[in-house]
Amino acid sequence: MISPRSIENVIEAARIEDVVRDFVDLKQRGANLIGLCPFHKEKTPSFSVSPSKNIFKCFGCGKGGTPVHFIMEAEQLTFPEAIRQLAKKYQITLEETNQSETSFEDKQERESLYIINQFTVDFYKNYLWENPIGQSVGLSYFKQRGFLESTIQKFDLGFAPDEPDALMQSALKQGYKIEFLQKLGLVNTHQKDFFRNRVIFPIHNLTGKPIAFAGRTLTTNAKSPKYINSPETELYNKSKTLYGLHLAKKSMRDKNYAILVEGYTDVMSLHQAGIENAVASSGTSLTEEQIQIIKRITSNVTILYDGDPAGIKAATRGIDLLIQEGLDVKIALIPGKEDPDSFIRKIGSEAFELFINKEATDFILFKINLHNQESENNPLKRSVAAKDIVQTIAKVDDPIKRSIYLKQTASILQLDEIHVIESCNKLIKEELKNKMFSERRRALDRDQQILKDLNDDESLPMHIQDISVTSDEIQEKDICRVLMLWGQQWYDETEQISFAQYIIENISDTIPFFENDLIKSIILDVAQQLSNGIVPGVPYYISHENKAIANLALEFTMSKYEFSQNWSDRWNIFLSTQKIPEENFRSDITNSILRFKLKKYNKAILEFEKKIKSSSISDIELEIELKSHQHIVKERNYIATLLKTVVI
Ligand code: CTP
Ligand code: MN
Repeated sequence: MISPRSIENVIEAARIEDVVRDFVDLKQRGANLIGLCPFHKEKTPSFSVSPSKNIFKCFGCGKGGTPVHFIMEAEQLTFPEAIRQLAKKYQITLEETNQSETSFEDKQERESLYIINQFTVDFYKNYLWENPIGQSVGLSYFKQRGFLESTIQKFDLGFAPDEPDALMQSALKQGYKIEFLQKLGLVNTHQKDFFRNRVIFPIHNLTGKPIAFAGRTLTTNAKSPKYINSPETELYNKSKTLYGLHLAKKSMRDKNYAILVEGYTDVMSLHQAGIENAVASSGTSLTEEQIQIIKRITSNVTILYDGDPAGIKAATRGIDLLIQEGLDVKIALIPGKEDPDSFIRKIGSEAFELFINKEATDFILFKINLHNQESENNPLKRSVAAKDIVQTIAKVDDPIKRSIYLKQTASILQLDEIHVIESCNKLIKEELKNKMFSERRRALDRDQQILKDLNDDESLPMHIQDISVTSDEIQEKDICRVLMLWGQQWYDETEQISFAQYIIENISDTIPFFENDLIKSIILDVAQQLSNGIVPGVPYYISHENKAIANLALEFTMSKYEFSQNWSDRWNIFLSTQKIPEENFRSDITNSILRFKLKKYNKAILEFEKKIKSSSISDIELEIELKSHQHIVKERNYIATLLKTVVI
């Protein structure tokens, strides 16, 4: 980890005009400099740089911030990566704080696995491009399918030789360990290569590192599967991977929508035709994790699946999930026996984009029409269809959209509108109840896991007295502090989940009840940024237009140094052992979330007790309230044990 002092050195040294000039041609305009915004397409400049404030701001797309922020955005880097880059530019030596032994070893192993995968990519590529067999079998196959050399390069395609252990021998010669090759699924238990005589499609993570491979056979032998894929490994989790994401993310953000296709070659063909916002779910139906990944970049998805019954089925599966997560889903079916790959080849890229614009239908309308065709005039079938559609509509968050959909359902299927609305409302209520319980449970499970993961148990507070009920502002402020200071750190690097996301998800149910309006607005702003795929860091807050936010951020960054001695006064909490948070930000975050939740639950309990004492509550209401009350008490006590707190 880079030390906070070094980070500040870099932030102080970096001049916005220098940094931007590497990317944008700037012209003087009064005290400011202006140019064409590198983050969105424009013909007249609305991108402005203020050397005196050391910030940039685009009045076209709204992006703005410090030099660090600019580098992060321009080069799609994380905060530490941007700091490293700027340090290089300004020749600043960075102080790194040590990580503990074990995590260092883990890291080393992961690094080795990545290195071996990269070696494997190069090995298969080299065979494809340089070896006569690779050229005549593999390369000519891709070319004959219409892929350009540049596309074949871009996707790192390769060829696995028809030899028992060519890759293994070559890797061993490089000194790579056989255990690692086996761990990655590249070599099997009989010490033979897993991929043989197949063209190879490497699969990359978000940042473009190779994490797995798929091999396509070139024979038409029915016995061998068309594709074989790497097994799940430490680096590769199929349900959390979208093929082509590293190449598509920028365009997905720019166009503000993603195209979802089924296969590797579909993604390649679309990219080759200049449609670069396409990714593939790789055959399986879409998973929740894949949806979360898309959602961080854009909330609009267009699904392009084959128009055959299998394609329709695959498309309708998993869609409820997309809608539930608040994404706007459109769907277009490819006509005839084509898939996106063959279709775009047939009609060309312009006609293809026209096709998407014209054919992509709002998913719910698509579903209603599909059902309508099937149910014809059979009333029984119509009511089954209505039930299915209403179930999907119930998952739409926006009440206005929901009511439009319900109207359409009733009108197309010729049903009584009131009836349709009522059955939808019933579903929503049930769903809400289930969701409340399961979300709390999930958040708590994760807290417990993270506590287990803490390598330094010493830093956990042993006794916390935190039961004053007057105000939640201290805890709210503390949440804001960890969010600002550590939001850009990875909660889980493999899954690319930042701590900002982790924190927001954990407290999302309490946002409406925040007492401090400033902090509430910050939290909402961060949630909004996250949904746009941006993880704000310290520079973002420090250079915020809202002075109050900027000052709060400054207060937090400065107070890091006086943290240990002032902890008890500042936060009204007494700890027996206290570490400086930057030495262990994981526990700092976890504890902050737990203290926050403890406080909110305590408050809920007290409010409940007041309520049942005073009001004229009906028996049924009382019973429901009591159930949820018992639940909250249980959660409160559970959190208390996690915090090792004495609850009085
Ligand atoms: N798939 C797989 N294993 C298989 C078959 C398919 O993993 N045995 C996945 C692959 O990700 C494949 C996708 O499902 O890309 C779609 O399958 P399919 O339509 O059969 O293949 P295409 O991608 O169209 O491949 P090609 O054009 O080379 O036939
Ligand atoms: Mn195909």
